[in-house]
Amino acid sequence: MRRKMAAGNWKMNGSAAALDMIDALSSAHSDNACDIVICPPAHLLTAACDRAGNGPVAIGAQNCHAAEKGAHTGDIAAAMIAETGARYVITGHSERRETYGETDASVCDRSAAAQASGLVPVVCIGESLAQREAGEALPVIRAQLAASVPDGSTGDTLVVAYEPIWAIGTGKIPTLEQIGEVHAALRADLVARFGAEGEKIRLLYGGSVKPGNAAEIFGTADVDGALVGGASLSADDFSPIIAALAAS
Ligand code: PGA
Repeated sequence: MRRKMAAGNWKMNGSAAALDMIDALSSAHSDNACDIVICPPAHLLTAACDRAGNGPVAIGAQNCHAAEKGAHTGDIAAAMIAETGARYVITGHSERRETYGETDASVCDRSAAAQASGLVPVVCIGESLAQREAGEALPVIRAQLAASVPDGSTGDTLVVAYEPIWAIGTGKIPTLEQIGEVHAALRADLVARFGAEGEKIRLLYGGSVKPGNAAEIFGTADVDGALVGGASLSADDFSPIIAALAAS
């Protein structure tokens, strides 16, 4: 049985004042029914971890460098993230793949660095609209999974997020059949590669998850939770998504 996970990706949004949301989520979801993760910008990681304490909300970063340290201006190493108390890091988000040319190989290196520092990478994969319309979605996503995920990953050390690029921030989502088809293919590939551990690796869906569509998405087989962007910026939106996940 995989524990469900609702992860919020704040992207380049948020401020010290926005951390009040962690208090609201901690009291609303003290039943600990599923894993809740908030990924604020890097400057808020330490304060977010302090605010979350030992409560139900865990903290994650949005990217890490593959190297342990060195001359990488503007980057942050996995061990530095771990030092803040954060436990997760998003790797390979499509915005970073697009803007900074991150490849599957570099995403894999970052994810392995995260694991080596005790962080759990949330590895993002997903097709473009052109790839979806050309009927290439499944092979594209499966190739990304194969090349972006480090060898030796387990249910405790890896989370995968399927995020169709065309669904991110657009209000559009795939059909439930399409989500189910992708998650089933990803599950089969994880089991083929990692054996029994492949059954334990959480598969999140991401892309325009909102309070109004969360329950039907979470009712889809092999969807173990969500990676949420816009709707994770306020407790009013994120809390009902967490509640829908807990009830699924
Ligand atoms: P969205 O973003 O929920 O705003 O579509 C999801 C993501 O980019 O992780």
